[in-house]
Amino acid sequence: MDIEIKDLRFTYPSGVEALKGISLSIGSGEQVAIVGQNGAGKTTLVRHFNGLLKPTSGSVIVGDWETTKYSVAKLASRVGYVFQNPDEQLFSRDVLTEVSFGPRNLGYSKERTDELVRRALALTELSDQTETNPYDLSPTGAR
Ligand SMILES: Nc1ncnc2c1ncn2[C@@H]1O[C@H](COP(=O)(O)OP(=O)(O)OP(=O)(O)O)[C@@H](O)[C@H]1O
Ligand SMILES: [Mg+2]
Repeated sequence: MDIEIKDLRFTYPSGVEALKGISLSIGSGEQVAIVGQNGAGKTTLVRHFNGLLKPTSGSVIVGDWETTKYSVAKLASRVGYVFQNPDEQLFSRDVLTEVSFGPRNLGYSKERTDELVRRALALTELSDQTETNPYDLSPTGAR
């Protein structure tokens, strides 16, 4: 899915103009690192991808969806967001519940949820850790 950003400007309510005319195209499957010094506006930009922030002017289009026209909940079916501090993202008492939350929250059927969870656990080599508390997993993958 392509992401198309055109002349994006964003001003926080405090008056800080964090983004001053960003234009950027990211193609489907492309891997892009957004790099810049502290306060450059990286987080502000990325929060526009899933609609957590809406442009003051300009546009952000994910696939064929202009983010201003869709809720964050709806955009969550297209855009995943991993927090800077992973501890802030975990809230379930075991890995299975944690990994199931996303697809269940999107309203997928039990069958589809089970299949997505099975694949995600296999990809991350966590198939044998479904009952582990996520906070007990090692950050490095070592057991
Ligand atoms: N909630 C906010 N309210 C007001 N100003 C903000 C807010 N969040 C960020 N800013 C300001 O917007 C600008 C861009 O900040 P942003 O957090 O997007 O930068 P960043 O590149 O992600 O920085 P870092 O490398 O520290 O994560 C900075 O001047 C920052 O002080
Ligand atoms: Mg940041």
